[in-house]
Amino acid sequence: MEGAKPEPGPVGLEFCLAQEGHFEEVMSISRDVYGGIDYLPVRYRTWLQEPARRVMLAKRNGRVIALVSVNVVDDGRTAVVEGLRVAPRERGKGIAGLIQEHCLDFIRAQFPEVEVRRYTRSGRLGPEVLAKFQLICKQEILSLYFKVEALRPKLGAAIVQLKASGTEWQEPIVLQAADVKRVFLNPTVIDTVLPGKTIVHDWAPFKASGSNLETLLKQDIVWMADSKEEPSVLSLCTAPYAIPMGANHHRLNIDIFGKHFPGARSQFLAHLQEVIGSLQGPLYCILYMDPSLWQEMHSFCLESFGLQSDRDFGGQSVLEAGI
Ligand SMILES: CC(C)(COP(=O)(O)OP(=O)(O)OC[C@H]1O[C@@H](n2cnc3c(N)ncnc32)[C@H](O)[C@@H]1OP(=O)(O)O)[C@@H](O)C(=O)NCCC(=O)NCCS
Repeated sequence: MEGAKPEPGPVGLEFCLAQEGHFEEVMSISRDVYGGIDYLPVRYRTWLQEPARRVMLAKRNGRVIALVSVNVVDDGRTAVVEGLRVAPRERGKGIAGLIQEHCLDFIRAQFPEVEVRRYTRSGRLGPEVLAKFQLICKQEILSLYFKVEALRPKLGAAIVQLKASGTEWQEPIVLQAADVKRVFLNPTVIDTVLPGKTIVHDWAPFKASGSNLETLLKQDIVWMADSKEEPSVLSLCTAPYAIPMGANHHRLNIDIFGKHFPGARSQFLAHLQEVIGSLQGPLYCILYMDPSLWQEMHSFCLESFGLQSDRDFGGQSVLEAGI
C-alpha cells in the first residue's frame, strides 16, 4: 500500500497512495475545481511530506480519476478529510463516497486512536447532511477580487480615515509564536472567541491545542489579535499563493474569529497591508467570519472600499461524525 502499486477495489477501481509523479494527472482531474482558485497545485507536494497526512488516489484502467486527503490532528483523535475531487466524467457514480470510505479504512488501521472525522463544507447544508453530521461551527464567507495596483492607494486611504475616526480603528497586534500559544490557549478565548472552540485555517479545522498550534506555527501564517490579554477578535492570514486561474493570479485567505466589527475590519485591512507588499496583478481574497459580521463587512468592502465581490460560497461549515 505504501508504494505506487494500486490495490483492487470495487467497480473496477484501484486505490493507491499519491506520489510526486502523479502531480500532472491530479492536476488534469482538477481543472474546474473551485472555478480556478484551487489550492491543491501549491499544496500537493507539501501534503505528501506531512507525517500524519495520507493522500489517496482512485484509478480506473491505470488512470487517476479521484483524490482525497485525510490529515490526523488533535493529538491523533481527529481525521480531517480535505481536497476531495472526482474527474468530471466520473462524477455522479458514487466515487467520492467510495474513495473516502477506502481512505478512512486505511486511516483507522494506521491511526487506531482516531475517534472522529471532520469535514469543512461550503454551501447551504440540507437536512440529509445535518442528519449524518454534527455541525461544529459555521462561518460566512466574503469572496473579493481586485487588482493589487488598484487596491494599494485605497487601502492606505481607508486606514488613515478609520484611524482619524477614533473608535472605528482597533489597532491590530501581530502575534509572535510565543504570543500565539498564550492567546489561543486562553480558556476564555477558546470558549467565547473561537467558533465551536475551533481554529479554522484555510478550510482546515483544528482544536485549540498545543500540538495543533505547533503544526500551524510551521506554516507561513500572519497571526493577529486586538489584545494579547483579553482579545475579542483574532485572525490568521495565509501568504498569497499562485492559483490556476491565470499567470500572476494569486489567492489569500483571512480567517477572522470574534464578533466585534471594528476589530475584525481593522485586522482585515492590516492583513491586506501586511501581505500585499510588492505583489502585482489580480488577487482573490477569501474572508471568513462570524455570520453576524457579514452584512457590515460586505457593505464596507463593496460600498465604502469599492471592492468587487467575486462568488457566493454559501458559507463554510465544520462537520463532525464518528469515524
Ligand atoms: C463533490 C464531488 C467530489 C462529488 O463526487 P461524486 O463522485 O459525484 O459524488 P458521489 O456520487 O460519491 O455522491 C456524493 C457522495 O460524495 C460525498 N460528498 C459530496 N460532496 C462532498 C463534499 N463537498 N465533501 C465531502 N464529501 C462530499 C458524500 O460523502 C456523498 O456520499 P453519501 O452519498 O454517503 O452522502 C465532485 O462533484 C467534484 O469533484 N467536485 C469538484 C470538487 C469539489 O467541489 N469537491 C468538494 C469540496 S472538497
